[in-house]
Amino acid sequence: MSRVPVICVDGPSGAGKGTLSLQLARSLDWHLLDSGALYRVIGHACWSQGIDWQDEAAVVRMTRGLDVRFEPVGDGVAVWLEGQEVSREIRSERGSRGASAVAALPGVRIALLNRQRALAQSPGLVADGRDMGTVVFPDAPLKIFLTATAEARAQRRQAQLMEKGESVSLPRLLDAINERDLSDSGRSVSPLVAAEDAVRIDSSELSADAVHERVLELAAERGIKARAPN
Ligand code: C5P
Repeated sequence: MSRVPVICVDGPSGAGKGTLSLQLARSLDWHLLDSGALYRVIGHACWSQGIDWQDEAAVVRMTRGLDVRFEPVGDGVAVWLEGQEVSREIRSERGSRGASAVAALPGVRIALLNRQRALAQSPGLVADGRDMGTVVFPDAPLKIFLTATAEARAQRRQAQLMEKGESVSLPRLLDAINERDLSDSGRSVSPLVAAEDAVRIDSSELSADAVHERVLELAAERGIKARAPN
């Protein structure tokens, strides 16, 4: 497996993995893998091509030929599918349900393995997901398992949606989060579990900056340092 250093950031939806991963990638000047976006794009492609989420053979075939591109922009990453920007569509509630459905298909996870590993390029990779430390990059030098209470996660999700002008009630978001947690932790392939050597951080009472600082400290303890500016 690759010798390029990888920091894995795993955990349930809404714990702050995306924000932390983006901050880490920026401060270390490393590449970023948002693996959830890959599953979201596949769910979206199924929907737009009329492929049933349950039809594993068809979803795997489509996944193998998937033309997806990630492009860093402002405070996030733009996602392109077959030359069309789908950043907004894949972040909708339908996008979340589709991602969770296709993520439970073993063939899809296998089809994505090499694509994800190929992103471990110099000087390093921050990998955001559910199974980064357990399956995709088991020998990564730093694995973080970021959690937060379901209530804290639902509140954050509501604030994010409100910023985008969408309003969804808190109880509905809490239900959706609990349902997704259950499906992500209960599936037979790559269930959401912390790697044995992962450092657990509960972000419920911590600011994003505090979590970022803590992970940079852990990285420094393991000899991982930000690249000196040119
Ligand atoms: O992280 P995000 O919420 O964008 O992920 C969307 C869905 O994709 C998750 O609910 C999960 O079902 C799935 N996923 C996964 N493995 C990953 C990343 C995401 O199963 N490594």
